[in-house]
Amino acid sequence: MKKILIQIDPDLQASVFDSVVAIDSGVDHLLCHGAVRPDQVQSLVHGGIFTRGPKDLHNTAIFVGGSNVSEGEALLKEVTKSFFGPMRVSVMLDANGCNTTAAAAVLRAGTHLGLSSVNALVLGGTGPVGQRVGLLLAKEGASVRLGSRSKERADSVCTAISEKVESGSLTGVAAGTTDEVTVAIDGCEIVISAGAAGVELLPEEIWSSADSLKVAIDLNAVPPEGIGGISVFAKGEEKHGVICYGAVGVGGTKMKIHKAAIAALFESNVKVLDAEAIYELGQNLG
Ligand SMILES: NC(=O)c1ccc[n+]([C@@H]2O[C@H](COP(=O)([O-])OP(=O)(O)OC[C@H]3O[C@@H](n4cnc5c(N)ncnc54)[C@H](OP(=O)(O)O)[C@@H]3O)[C@@H](O)[C@H]2O)c1
Repeated sequence: MKKILIQIDPDLQASVFDSVVAIDSGVDHLLCHGAVRPDQVQSLVHGGIFTRGPKDLHNTAIFVGGSNVSEGEALLKEVTKSFFGPMRVSVMLDANGCNTTAAAAVLRAGTHLGLSSVNALVLGGTGPVGQRVGLLLAKEGASVRLGSRSKERADSVCTAISEKVESGSLTGVAAGTTDEVTVAIDGCEIVISAGAAGVELLPEEIWSSADSLKVAIDLNAVPPEGIGGISVFAKGEEKHGVICYGAVGVGGTKMKIHKAAIAALFESNVKVLDAEAIYELGQNLG
């Protein structure tokens, strides 16, 4: 039976990037829907779950993409609400690459250091990618300092993550000025920068003299770099004694995870692939 992926996207035009990756991941037929609003989701899901018998539903899946993560989250919620009993299909959320990118960054960091015993600083920690990086690091047992220009915003994200990871160690930190970032990075072995595109959050002179730092990962691909002095192409090379990755350097791992996650959707009809499940899948890729 043919594998059908229903791609739903809140943007006016469904993401071509998401479509290409789906086809490269082995999907036979892609049904793309752009400008999808939450109140339209149920009828799209019904079209997917009532057309094939329960035993064949693993051949149909849903991908929620697009550029706006909170709108994507709202669509995912409606998708899962529309299922009942065995009448369901597997679904994955990766709006703006938030889940695959966060998973790839944390996996890359974990290849160099045991995450359960590190202090990690997440810059841009209040954004969709940063929040997921914070969540995954906390789940791994790292002591996470989550940075923002506003300590209040950072604290409220830490509270939200702590509700999901009860044993998590998360502290909101102000990281909007060079003085604040210098304090925030002190004692950290890992820094992952997930700030907005084209904004430097961590100047080179600060991280190059942070004695404890061992791994630095920048997820911003738009100049200037989010972490000064780390090329977007850096892929595990050492600079100032620190193992460095840029956004493109992490991109290979991200794409591998994205394709594996799409393929995994067709293994059963019950998967809901959000940040944690996608990270777990990435871990199993080895
Ligand atoms: N490599 C990939 O495949 C890939 C995929 C997806 C995303 N990305 C990149 O990952 C990064 C994070 O994505 P995102 O969607 O989570 O980012 P985002 O929501 O645009 O921004 C993340 C955080 O950056 C801070 N910020 C925004 N404007 C700022 C400014 N002018 N100065 C300092 N801080 C600012 C904000 O935190 P506060 O207001 O709380 O300070 C915001 O919550 C982006 O650079 C994105 O391009 C890469």
